[in-house]
Amino acid sequence: MAPKSSNPPSTTGAGAPAVSDRNSLSIGPNGPILLHDVHFLEQMAHFNREKVPERQPHAKGSGAFGVFETTEDVSAFTKAAMFQKGAATEMLARFSTVAGEMGSPDTWRDVRGFSLKFYTSEGNYDLVGNNTPVFFLRDPMKFPHFIRSQKRLPDSGLRDNHMQWDFWTLNPESAHQVTYVMGDRGLPRSWRNMNGYGSHTYMWVNKGGEKFWVKYHFHTNQGMKFFTNEEAAAMAGSDADFHRRDLFEAIAAGKHPSWTLSVQIMPYDEAKSYRFNPFDLTKIWSHEDYPLVKVGTMRLNRNPENFFAQIEQAAFSPGNTVPGIGLSPDKMLLGRAFAYNDAQRNRIGANFHQLPVNRPKVPVNTFMFDGHMAFEHSGNKPVYAPNSGGRAWSDETGPVDNGWEADGEMVRAAYTLHADDDDFSQPGALVRNVMDDAQRDRLVNQVSGSLLGGVKGEVLARALDYWKKIDAKVGKRIEDKVHAKAAPQPAEGMGER
Ligand code: HEM
Repeated sequence: MAPKSSNPPSTTGAGAPAVSDRNSLSIGPNGPILLHDVHFLEQMAHFNREKVPERQPHAKGSGAFGVFETTEDVSAFTKAAMFQKGAATEMLARFSTVAGEMGSPDTWRDVRGFSLKFYTSEGNYDLVGNNTPVFFLRDPMKFPHFIRSQKRLPDSGLRDNHMQWDFWTLNPESAHQVTYVMGDRGLPRSWRNMNGYGSHTYMWVNKGGEKFWVKYHFHTNQGMKFFTNEEAAAMAGSDADFHRRDLFEAIAAGKHPSWTLSVQIMPYDEAKSYRFNPFDLTKIWSHEDYPLVKVGTMRLNRNPENFFAQIEQAAFSPGNTVPGIGLSPDKMLLGRAFAYNDAQRNRIGANFHQLPVNRPKVPVNTFMFDGHMAFEHSGNKPVYAPNSGGRAWSDETGPVDNGWEADGEMVRAAYTLHADDDDFSQPGALVRNVMDDAQRDRLVNQVSGSLLGGVKGEVLARALDYWKKIDAKVGKRIEDKVHAKAAPQPAEGMGER
């Protein structure tokens, strides 16, 4: 509920006039305070419950509301109402860092989250992506381990380069995303200046039931801009909330940032034989093989009125899809389809979907009932399905229109490799063909600096080897820098103390 425009007097939570917001009730001005000062006790007790757990991961972020408009005709590929030409859909975006906690600086080097919630005429569609087109892993089993390795040491509570590189080098499928994050994308100048990607492969289904595989690309219309390490470090000290402030102030000043959505589209049957496994989240699809097809524009035009209610309590989930859009065999995506709503039941409460920021704009008839803080209800309508009381229930049977074929034994195994699949070719191509000389120089400096920050022994050797596998020249330059800087310094004279 938005705040009322009138300015009513202070009240208790029960709406009665609040007696005082300045002085507790005591026996005489200096005497003990009294247990029956209910207003004081309510204030204290509620204050003790103000915080909810922060997101684990992506705790630090902010966002804004806006509109997505489909400007092109992509009805041949999807029947989703929001992607029909001319449709305008209200939406919410939230941007974030991954590893930092709620109060951490916006300009620490990291991947940035790019979460979108579209309040469509067919229910909410969420696209929860990042500012890079790939990810560190391809099996969700590894995700909690990955996030812990990027967070803090169990004893000191400090972040630790050694732990990060240990994890990355023991999981070489991370090489592509690590190359992105060690490059300029790890330090976007602002959220307005970065691209967003769905990253995973999703399914689109048209009216005729034909299926396609798609990858989403949101290109910033403000231009991609980055901070140098020095600028980012200075900003982390002088304004830890720089990205949050930048977005809020830009929108307040009427500078509404926008992004153009394009998709890569792969015909359903080509997935089996494409030279890269198209469901492997550590890989991109070549734009020569699958060029971008423009879809529409997203524009952010409205700041939150209340950060906690509309941003902290916002609940995005890759599992929230609508007709015409489906998931894919990407194991990471399937793992995520469970994880988010479960996290939100813990973080916000079982009825998080009823909160105004999460509530769809279409009528809801769900067979989920009661629980803490249930606000919406269905009166005395039947609480079970099927029922004879006239309450609608769903009964789809047979093949699902956004499904795919799977057969075989139950196994624990890595994906089947396609012709060109390996961990190092695509990051190598990123370094050689996409980055220019200045970007490669910055990459070498960044990686060698990070490796010199406490990465030791076997892990250091593995990290140098990892970079030589990505690109022999860049790897050698990193190695030379690390060895030059790590050479023993002249002793200061006093020996050990
Ligand atoms: C198996 C893999 C993954 C798991 C289990 C996982 C789990 C989670 C969880 C539990 C949260 C917190 C949700 C909340 O409290 O509301 C989260 C947040 C987030 N994740 Fe993931 N994640 C995974 C992979 C990814 C990938 C591949 C991406 C991007 C391509 C991604 C992007 C995000 C973003 C942007 C957020 C912040 C959502 C927001 O703005 O509220 N995650 N993740």
